[in-house]
Amino acid sequence: AVTPWLNQALKSGDTVYLSEAQGDFQLSNSVKDKVFIAGGSGLTPIFSMLNEYQSNAWYKQAQLLFYVNNSQSLFFSEQLSHLEAKGLQVTTIYSDHQGRIDQQQLEMFVEDISEKEFYVCGPGKMIEITQSLLTSNTVPEADIHFEYFGQQPLSLEGMNADDADELIQVDYLDSRKQVTFDPQQFIESDKATLLEISENQGLKPVAGCRMGVCHQCICKKKTGRVFN
Ligand code: FES
Repeated sequence: AVTPWLNQALKSGDTVYLSEAQGDFQLSNSVKDKVFIAGGSGLTPIFSMLNEYQSNAWYKQAQLLFYVNNSQSLFFSEQLSHLEAKGLQVTTIYSDHQGRIDQQQLEMFVEDISEKEFYVCGPGKMIEITQSLLTSNTVPEADIHFEYFGQQPLSLEGMNADDADELIQVDYLDSRKQVTFDPQQFIESDKATLLEISENQGLKPVAGCRMGVCHQCICKKKTGRVFN
């Protein structure tokens, strides 16, 4: 409810009161060396933690792996140099050239993997891959802290179209357009959201985050069946 309201009702000059940050993605009391892994904007909560604890002893043993697509998408670089000067080990990885996180990279950048405590924040896929990598490197579950930046991805396990559903059909009532598509393709492609399918039809639904967080693209289903 908040994001659309902000967009429509808030005027320049209005006063906004903000609460302190809240949530579970916080530093634990563990004495293990900490490794922070951030993907893109997922750096923001990690950045807050790192800023807050610069004077703590663990800081000089801690490291940050920061994944961004390329040098153009890099942000906070000046601030990261500042954190590095304070003793944090910072590694920036450009995924376009160096690829996404995998076993090889983990071994290359992190020593004694199973002895460390991890904090991971980024897009859903990146979190899932990192979690399973860490688990297969025998990092205990209690030492893997994570926060989805955006919504947790849907599990497609057990999500099969019925045999009867040879084609899925969507009727857009306002624009009177109709789309049909193969359900299996829809399930297999993690890009095929209803929003994208609509846009491919030339429709221009209101949208913001494009990942299920802001609810700006919300609309009412009049009839039909939904896989959830
Ligand atoms: S929820 Fe943000 S665009 Fe759909």
